[in-house]
Amino acid sequence: MKNIYLIGMMGSGKTSTGHELAKLLRIRFVDLDDLIVEETHQSINDIFKKEGEAYFRCIESEVLNQVASGSDQVVATGGGIILKTENVEKMNHTGIIVYLKTSIEVLWERVKTATDRPLLKTKNPQKTLADILRDRAFLYESAKTKIFLTDQKSPKEVADEIYRTCFVDR
Ligand code: S3P
Repeated sequence: MKNIYLIGMMGSGKTSTGHELAKLLRIRFVDLDDLIVEETHQSINDIFKKEGEAYFRCIESEVLNQVASGSDQVVATGGGIILKTENVEKMNHTGIIVYLKTSIEVLWERVKTATDRPLLKTKNPQKTLADILRDRAFLYESAKTKIFLTDQKSPKEVADEIYRTCFVDR
């Protein structure tokens, strides 16, 4: 089986849904942000603070390339993975891309108390989140193979839906 890449904004549930989907499919779950932390021995916050976003994006692409050389994996990506065309091409060639689409209201509810989202360390994080979504919406939409709406659904419900749609009712 090819890889299943979960894309979407921070707070869309990629990691928790990915865990559930990997259980259903009985395959490995991989989280790109976790691999970046392992590889660099730094937290995502520290990488952004000390090395900057451009450096983070380089490591992110490197780690994606490593993961993409394997198969049979559910891969939770970071929200910005779609910023580089080469990342989208890599995912497309090595698997299917599943977009977890979430409304700005629900995203904000889920991330407003989080401290591990460096891009939201601004004066007005709610506006920053909305700006990021506005800038990226088109990239998520055009990268996706399939789309699933996640508002009001648990990660298990979303995973069940992906499983049924992509792997059972075909
Ligand atoms: C980012 C999302 C984060 C993490 C980094 C950058 C983004 O991952 O990769 O903070 O650009 O949206 P999550 O989407 O898992 O929060």
